[in-house]
Amino acid sequence: MVTIKSKREIELMREVCKITALTHKAIEEAIKPGMTTQELDQIAENAMKKYGAISAEKGYDPGIRGVPPYPAATCISINDEVIHGVPSSKRYIQDGDIVSVDLVALKNGFNGDAARTYLVGNVSKDAKRLVETTKQAFFEGIKYAKKGNRIGDISHAIGEYVQSQGYSVVREFQGHGIGKEMHEDPGIPNYGKSGKGLRIEPGMTLAIEPMVIQGKHNILELDDGWTIVTEDGSLSAHYENTILITENEPEVLTIL
Ligand code: MF3
Ligand code: CO
Repeated sequence: MVTIKSKREIELMREVCKITALTHKAIEEAIKPGMTTQELDQIAENAMKKYGAISAEKGYDPGIRGVPPYPAATCISINDEVIHGVPSSKRYIQDGDIVSVDLVALKNGFNGDAARTYLVGNVSKDAKRLVETTKQAFFEGIKYAKKGNRIGDISHAIGEYVQSQGYSVVREFQGHGIGKEMHEDPGIPNYGKSGKGLRIEPGMTLAIEPMVIQGKHNILELDDGWTIVTEDGSLSAHYENTILITENEPEVLTIL
């Protein structure tokens, strides 16, 4: 269901999204080679708690037979891992890694969703360009996140930009509406046709999230039922914010 948020609901979205951004700030300050992804996850969980929120990802039930509820507070995906990497006490972050952290804070019944790909230590020029392009793809997309446009306009802008830079977008996962539910309608693919899809209206809150692969678009799911990796082993990056559609320019709620 597509939801249009009331004034009061928008204030609650603002508040939880600010916490999501502050949690990313805590991660950015803490991340370093030699730590485990579980340690980083704990830092994120502590930050959310400090600001009066909880993780909406922890215990999240995807509703797929045989897949257990998500066990951690954040998703941490390194290098060729695209999304949904499960934090582990055995997984060490190393110099040169690109580390995608995707987190959803929940407070007062509303969700704020954002992902960043962090550069750890000495990262190659190629990897940096991938990460920068993924971030820019988000900003290319939200140029079209305006009253009267259609969802396909956002999708098209993201897909075309990524392709123009020589990279691929992931096709099996997409952005989404967000509010009381982490995933609401509409789905927002990172590729598509302009002029297609739902008309964009003020009061919509949307999570726009390009997932970009250096090589071919194909992905695989690991046996843990969660972790998504690139099939060709090339690097992948993720950049996501929750935005608010207004009468004019969109407001990015998960940037401080
Ligand atoms: N934050 C992710 C999203 O955008 C969802 C994470 S899946 C979960 O869409 F299981 F970790 F919650
Ligand atoms: Co999302």
